[in-house]
Amino acid sequence: MANTNRQLILHSRPKGLIAPSDLQLAEASTPALADGQALARVKYISIDPTMRIWMAADSYLPAVAIGEVMRAFGFAEVVESRHKDFKKGDKVVGLTGLQDYTLIDVADKRGSFQKVPPVPFISDTAFLGVLGINGLTAYFGMMEIAKPQKGETLVVSAAAGATGSIAGQIGKIHGCRVVGIAGGPEKCRWLLDDLGFDAAIDYKQPDWKDKFAAATPKGVDIDFENVGGEIMHSVLDRMNLHGRVVLCGLISGYTKEDPGLASFVMVLVKRLRVQGFIILDYTHRYMEAATQLGKWKMFGKLKDRETIVEGLEKAPEAINMLFTGANIGKLLVKV
Ligand SMILES: NC(=O)c1ccc[n+]([C@@H]2O[C@H](COP(=O)([O-])OP(=O)(O)OC[C@H]3O[C@@H](n4cnc5c(N)ncnc54)[C@H](OP(=O)(O)O)[C@@H]3O)[C@@H](O)[C@H]2O)c1
Repeated sequence: MANTNRQLILHSRPKGLIAPSDLQLAEASTPALADGQALARVKYISIDPTMRIWMAADSYLPAVAIGEVMRAFGFAEVVESRHKDFKKGDKVVGLTGLQDYTLIDVADKRGSFQKVPPVPFISDTAFLGVLGINGLTAYFGMMEIAKPQKGETLVVSAAAGATGSIAGQIGKIHGCRVVGIAGGPEKCRWLLDDLGFDAAIDYKQPDWKDKFAAATPKGVDIDFENVGGEIMHSVLDRMNLHGRVVLCGLISGYTKEDPGLASFVMVLVKRLRVQGFIILDYTHRYMEAATQLGKWKMFGKLKDRETIVEGLEKAPEAINMLFTGANIGKLLVKV
């Protein structure tokens, strides 16, 4: 085991995309373990849009403090243990932070680390994507808020991303007509050819709004909203009376001072039900959701894809990739 622990420290709060000076690489010693502690080697880090929120200001969690290791969710393997619940070789997911090694402490009452069970045919990285935060978010957003019915039209924005791709497939499983909105022909091809979406609209084409109208001839019953801004505005325009809007994310605003939210006029005129949610609300039901997602995956009803960036030092660039759309499916850093 190495004695040094590389860490990415929050040095300044970003304006727009993350600048190299905002997150700086530093080296610390790996800690000597006290009773009740375990040390785990971080293998993969989940790159999530919310990291940009955590860097900027208090939200549903306090902002990361300047000088702290950047908060991140990751997959790690225990290399040394004096903790009663974890032994060497155990695989865990939890808030590892952007670093090589993470400490698991019995005093952490939040239970930030969960052991990952060995499941045949399921890769370690699936626990950060389709069976992790993204799959769980898609599951609860669809099953608890959208409640999809056969024959309804579901629109998903950021549809070729980690969360959107799963939400759309859950819509297909429930018999919806699923229309994905994504940036670029490769993403749209993946949605149509591999994931079985009924239509995929490339919002980077100038005529995308006409194509979107043509792809939703019966209007829109459910908006699984990941983006906000102009895209959300265009979807709300095509909503049917009493439609449901699952407000999962508003990524187009995360790097802006003024997030430019869609107009509420359509919420009024179309009598829409708009519900925001944060996946932490459903912590007590993760096992139920992961079991169902795992079954769908094993029976080939859910497909996933990963974009993997190599090297802890590349994590800041990787976070920016979410905002330039350079990922397809789940974005991970291999440490
Ligand atoms: N509520 C919750 O608890 C929860 C949990 C997890 C995630 N989320 C939210 O879910 C959304 C997706 O997150 P994810 O982790 O699955 O990321 P992701 O979709 O895998 O990656 C983000 C994607 O967003 C799209 N995007 C970025 N900026 C955009 C813009 N200005 N206009 C249109 N599209 C843009 C890009 O795809 P294109 O190439 O298509 O532009 C990019 O690939 C985010 O809003 C996130 O905050 C919410």
